Amino acid sequence: MRNSAPIALLIILLFIPIQARNHPPPCSTSCGVIHNIGYPFRLKGDPPHCGDPDYELYCDNHNRTILNFHAGLYYVNNISYAQRLIRLVDINLAAGNCGLPYRSLGLAEVAGDGRYYRQYFSPHATFVRCSKEINSMGSSMVPCLNGNTSRVYLNYTNYMLYVSDITSYCDIIAMVLSDHKVDQFPSSYEEIQRTLQLGFDMRWAVECRDCRADGGYCQFPTQESSRFHCSKEDDYATQLRNAILFLAYVFVIGLILFCRYILAPLVIFAFLLYKCFSSRNRIPR
Ligand SMILES: *[C@@H]1O[C@H](CO)[C@@H](O)[C@H](O)[C@H]1NC(C)=O
Ligand SMILES: *[C@@H]1O[C@H](CO)[C@@H](O)[C@H](O)[C@H]1NC(C)=O
Ligand SMILES: *[C@@H]1O[C@H](CO)[C@@H](O)[C@H](O)[C@H]1NC(C)=O
Ligand SMILES: *[C@@H]1O[C@H](CO)[C@@H](O)[C@H](O)[C@H]1NC(C)=O
Repeated sequence: MRNSAPIALLIILLFIPIQARNHPPPCSTSCGVIHNIGYPFRLKGDPPHCGDPDYELYCDNHNRTILNFHAGLYYVNNISYAQRLIRLVDINLAAGNCGLPYRSLGLAEVAGDGRYYRQYFSPHATFVRCSKEINSMGSSMVPCLNGNTSRVYLNYTNYMLYVSDITSYCDIIAMVLSDHKVDQFPSSYEEIQRTLQLGFDMRWAVECRDCRADGGYCQFPTQESSRFHCSKEDDYATQLRNAILFLAYVFVIGLILFCRYILAPLVIFAFLLYKCFSSRNRIPR
């Protein structure tokens, strides 16, 4: 009984460091109105074990959660882990002010990135600057961006607009990804502005990022599906090994056929010939 105190102390001393190792510093889960920050997302400044560095968000001085994507800055409005969707709004468009987005962003950038995915037919709002008035786009003129000799319009489409899609009087100056309710296709500048304020969804795909890092490429079999297939081009060593295996196979098959249909009959023929001669030689004796 007298010895139990030092032993207890020893046990406690042994366990303290283990306890500390089992409880790493906690990760932040909330910033402002976003309370569910978790894997793969992490907040800048959190310990390294939190989330994935490719999916880093930060919390600004006004407690707004921000994603820096392709040098654009986006407020995070919502994160849905069930659907793997993050809803973003360009910081310049969130308040509904007239003007350009902080950074132009279209499907091409998302598709080329690998960390996120958006279906091919994605609504875009495209800012076009035209050297003359285009009457068909009159209702979507962006008043604050008009110059002395130019007009800026915001054209809303269900797909990404290319230079070849617009008249030769106009140039694309910026585009924004968007999502609208099925029955509310916006057409006037004010309607488009309100739609852009609500932001757009991007689906994250950590496995797709990993697939690309591994030299493969992602294929999303159906547009609505979040499942994808990682396709891989065989590398040179694999192709070489397959070619050698194929040649070896052909050689072995060839050898078997050669033995079976050429060598074996020849041997039998030679044997019979030999028999024949040797028996003929024997007859006169
Ligand atoms: C941001 O959130 C923290 C923690 O909830 C709070 O202490 C701080 O006052 C907030 N800052 C602003 C500018 O709202
Ligand atoms: C976030 O998205 C989820 C799922 O779509 C939805 O249920 C929830 O109401 C949204 N929250 C906000 C604040 O918009
Ligand atoms: C537009 O017109 C105003 C008034 O004529 C002039 O002061 C200004 O310099 C012009 N701006 C440009 C960009 O040409
Ligand atoms: C937007 O651009 C598309 C493609 O060029 C065109 O078909 C459509 O009419 C434009 N929208 C408006 C409102 O002019």
